[in-house]
Amino acid sequence: MSIRVTVIGTGYLGATHAAAMAELGYDVIGIDVEPEKIAELSAGRVPFYEPGLDELLAKHVASGRLRFTTDYAEAGSFGDIHFICVGTPQLKGEFAADMRYVDSSIEMLAPHLTRPCLVVGKSTVPVGTAARVADRLTALAPAGSDAELAWNPEFLREGFAVEDTLRPNRLVIGVTSERAEQVLREVYAPLLDAGVPLVVTDLPTSELVKASANAFLATKISFINAMAEVCEAAGADVTLLAKALSYDDRIGGKFLGAGLGFGGGCLPKDIRAFMARAGELGADQALTFLREVDAINMRRRARVVELAREQCNGSFLGRRIAVLGAAFKPDSDDIRDSPALNVAAQIQLQGGDVSVYDPKAMDNARKAYPSLTYVDSAAEACRGAHLVLHLTEWAEFRAMDPATLGEVVAERKIVDGRNALDLAQWRAAGWTYRALGRP
Ligand code: UGA
Repeated sequence: MSIRVTVIGTGYLGATHAAAMAELGYDVIGIDVEPEKIAELSAGRVPFYEPGLDELLAKHVASGRLRFTTDYAEAGSFGDIHFICVGTPQLKGEFAADMRYVDSSIEMLAPHLTRPCLVVGKSTVPVGTAARVADRLTALAPAGSDAELAWNPEFLREGFAVEDTLRPNRLVIGVTSERAEQVLREVYAPLLDAGVPLVVTDLPTSELVKASANAFLATKISFINAMAEVCEAAGADVTLLAKALSYDDRIGGKFLGAGLGFGGGCLPKDIRAFMARAGELGADQALTFLREVDAINMRRRARVVELAREQCNGSFLGRRIAVLGAAFKPDSDDIRDSPALNVAAQIQLQGGDVSVYDPKAMDNARKAYPSLTYVDSAAEACRGAHLVLHLTEWAEFRAMDPATLGEVVAERKIVDGRNALDLAQWRAAGWTYRALGRP
């Protein structure tokens, strides 16, 4: 009989993983504690924006291979393999991760595990969590040690979640037995047969792979942003610098985009949780550099506000500011720790009249920042604006015609927070163009 899969937690990670597992041919149940989410998903609708996921989910809800429930008992008796995909946000007022959702998913699932099965953690967790959860699982499950734990970190990017799940650049599995390894090899056989590299590790290594991958990516972004600060001081151009660096394949060109820096539900909280965990382990010195990575990143937001204020001759009072972009990055409606909204809110607090437009993130932005003004198009945001801020590099913004936009603004001034617009084109159309790390 084919392996039956459950996926616990149906956010960006879990909903994508559930649909992908159905696509690989398994019968899948997705579980969440939020009934509204389950109702949406059961109707074949994705409650957030992720390119390609709508189609995949609808296809498998229709085929009957993918169902959703809030009932842990149903999930427990159904699944041969249970993937834990719940969130691990930052604790309020602390660097550490909030583990309550991981812990409660185990507490709710384990009592229903009466036969041999594998529970596989995918959430990003502090190293040591898997070993702790494994003990709890054995203690709570009627199947005892036949309910085994493995860890299988997820590296998907929002905006490319479907692609990254069905065609990942690697699979990492942390296991404590051959049986667990065999089950995971079988579940991922279609990917392994297609040539996806597999790294088999112990539990703590698998947890650390994820934390260190995100720490590396964050460091790379802050590195180029630090170079942008030096470029500004020296009158150099960070985009040309990055281009020149990128031809060295030891460095590579990806994640060398200087600008407003990283946000989202992962990189910022993951580097902080990593520092907190290293501290608990007595290895805090090893990660003190991540404080600097974080500080460089947070300075980007302040620097964009400063650049904007300079463009408004020293004060935002009585100035209309168009903000293009609210999502933390393009092709997503996620606004968690969004640099764009952070900048918009700071400028509004300093007296600016801010209008925000984003192609997909308006609803989420409105809920989180209700006092900002939201409009239905880039042109509307720019109407009568004394300054335009380009803060999330959606294709729609990159394709804007500076001459046409120039007709509706009060002043042709733009700050490109993402170094993503064509400087020559904007200057040729009579705009004052400013960006981070460029003369
Ligand atoms: C990140 C990682 O890239 C994924 O591998 C990981 O699985 C995921 O976190 C996670 O832990 O779940 P994601 O948060 O979707 O993925 O977004 P990224 O594409 O990494 O971008 C993060 C931020 O960095 C964005 O705000 C983006 O605008 C910024 N960024 C990215 C730059 O400022 N410069 C760059 O060159 C690249």
